[in-house]
Amino acid sequence: MSNNSQWSSRVGFILASAGSAIGLGAIWKFPFWAGVNGGAAFIIPYIFFTFTIGVALVMAEVAVGRRGRGSVVSAMRRVGGPWFGIMGAVGVLTAFVILSYYSVVGGWCVAYLWDAVRGAVTISDPQILKDNFGALVSSGTANVAWHLVFLSLTCAVVICGVESGIERISKYLMPALFILMLAIIVRGLTLPGAWAGVEYLFRFRWDSLTSSSVLNAMGFTFFSLSVGAGILVTYGSYLSDKTSIPNASIWIAVLAIQAALLAGLMIMPAVFSFGLEPNAGPGLVFITVPMIFSQVPLGDVFALFFYVCLLVAALTSAVSLLEVVAAFMQNEWHLSRRLSVGISWITLFFLGSVSALSFGPWSGFTVGGRSFFDLLDYVCTNFLMPFGGLAVAVLAAWVAWPKIREQLSTPARQSEHKLMFIHTSLAFLAPLLVLVAVYQGLFG
Ligand code: PFF
Repeated sequence: MSNNSQWSSRVGFILASAGSAIGLGAIWKFPFWAGVNGGAAFIIPYIFFTFTIGVALVMAEVAVGRRGRGSVVSAMRRVGGPWFGIMGAVGVLTAFVILSYYSVVGGWCVAYLWDAVRGAVTISDPQILKDNFGALVSSGTANVAWHLVFLSLTCAVVICGVESGIERISKYLMPALFILMLAIIVRGLTLPGAWAGVEYLFRFRWDSLTSSSVLNAMGFTFFSLSVGAGILVTYGSYLSDKTSIPNASIWIAVLAIQAALLAGLMIMPAVFSFGLEPNAGPGLVFITVPMIFSQVPLGDVFALFFYVCLLVAALTSAVSLLEVVAAFMQNEWHLSRRLSVGISWITLFFLGSVSALSFGPWSGFTVGGRSFFDLLDYVCTNFLMPFGGLAVAVLAAWVAWPKIREQLSTPARQSEHKLMFIHTSLAFLAPLLVLVAVYQGLFG
């Protein structure tokens, strides 16, 4: 596929971008991250960041992509000059690193899907579920093997190209995932003691609001909207001039936030009802969801369907990450699409395996108390993505505003107020919030 290819429709673009946004971030990371960071003290800053700098950055990235028409490096270079090309390259590196460890969690989804196929996933004993999850992640070989399966699926979709691969699967299975989550929420909320989970999520406690919960909320905003790693620049380059960027961006943000909140409501009530710890960590979703399914009629069938949807959500995000890397290799190194994906497949396999092994055999290796997996996530989410976002904000607001403004007003004119809000968010608010949050998180 070349950079001449385009999304077949506006809805296709929104769904694919929302598909990139909605993935393991919303469904796996948000519930346990909200649990670890004190519920509302994390959720409120997350919503605030999303609707201020988050949406503005989504618009800026898409506008840079559509104006620059190329991989993130060529698009940023065309719009802002060689220095911004280098920033784009950092975005490619960020996407590459994220994909390496994202694929490990994607592998867990494949493993659970496999269990669901065998009818072995709906278990009601929390201890068995915890042990099963622990056994999966700490066994080096199984964890690496499932990571390889997920990575290979991602590569297969990317080889098929934007339209026939990414767009088609997003269109049908993302709505199905939403419906399924609603059904699980209804079941979860009717469990005894479930409302304590809702209270935990939404009751604000000042003492939980710390500089690290705010930094984590900002990092999660970037992660959840897929901004700061060149994804939306790349996807924007396939966008036709008939689509309004501001409208599409608001849709993407609303869908992403809705997915995260639904996932929180899906998990947290059950956590309280089953007497689990809300801050139990990365296994939370993989332990609670099977327990909920064990409480419903035809639980095995629903579980199977759920894991298919979860896998697709994870895939649409992973595919967006790989698309950035592949588009870069095609554009800058003039490699074929197949070769670009092949090189990524091999290198990502090795880097991801280190993350996979850091749960088990290599768990003794830590930096500042963080395993290799946690370290990559911490650095990418809290630093590389916010700084990537900062680079796009500076490019859009300070270097190339007339071009960005023109993009935002194509095809329909936007009100001056709206444009001023976007410009101010990009010029002042985004740099200020990113720098303050990073500073506070590091030294506060
Ligand atoms: N937004 C995706 C999720 O929440 O699962 C993950 C992701 C995709 C992060 C693309 C970063 C990114 F650039």
